[in-house]
Amino acid sequence: MRYDRSPRKDTSYLDEVWKLKQRIRREEGYLCQTWEFFSSSYENNTAHVLLEGGDEETNGEEEKVVGFCVVRGDGYILFLGVDSDYRGEGLGRVLVEKAGEDYKVLTCHARASNDNAVEFYKHLGFEVDRYVDSYYQNGEDAKYMSRDDRESLRSRISDVLKGED
Ligand SMILES: CC(C)(COP(=O)(O)OP(=O)(O)OC[C@H]1O[C@@H](n2cnc3c(N)ncnc32)[C@H](O)[C@@H]1OP(=O)(O)O)[C@@H](O)C(=O)NCCC(=O)NCCS
Repeated sequence: MRYDRSPRKDTSYLDEVWKLKQRIRREEGYLCQTWEFFSSSYENNTAHVLLEGGDEETNGEEEKVVGFCVVRGDGYILFLGVDSDYRGEGLGRVLVEKAGEDYKVLTCHARASNDNAVEFYKHLGFEVDRYVDSYYQNGEDAKYMSRDDRESLRSRISDVLKGED
């Protein structure tokens, strides 16, 4: 498994990321963005990409994208997806933590009906801040979620200080 960071304007993996995103859309109905929105967002922001294959261990199998996370300049996660064959192996966490290396506060929207994504984010320390009616194009509601690492730092400090006289 290889990790790569695509800075703004680097579209080397865009086509492969799009293919995976479209597969998730077809199979699960998530990540429904249009090519226009997806490709311009990708191009103008940072993408964290996980790749598999393309080495001796995988018998020269062609390298393919198995996970991606595109993050806006304010720590907002625009798109996150992991190939269904590679889920439950910690890749989603790696992608979010890579995003977290750049931002103390991460935010995102998740479909209110996407329990899996909502629970995944909660497990990683996100909280639901608000419910957004009709956020998605098909009229579906969203949960706006955030994780503020400054808060956990503050509470860790106050826990330590509680022990002091
Ligand atoms: C959401 C998604 C990215 C998770 O990816 P993943 O690689 O399977 O997640 P990970 O294996 O990294 O899970 C990380 C942790 O979250 C936990 N977790 C994952 N899904 C969970 C769930 N539904 N409920 C509770 N915990 C969950 C894992 O157990 C793991 O815990 P650990 O690190 O303490 O062992 C993946 O399911 C996906 O691509 N879904 C479709 C696209 C999508 O919904 N994207 C989000 C749009 S908002």
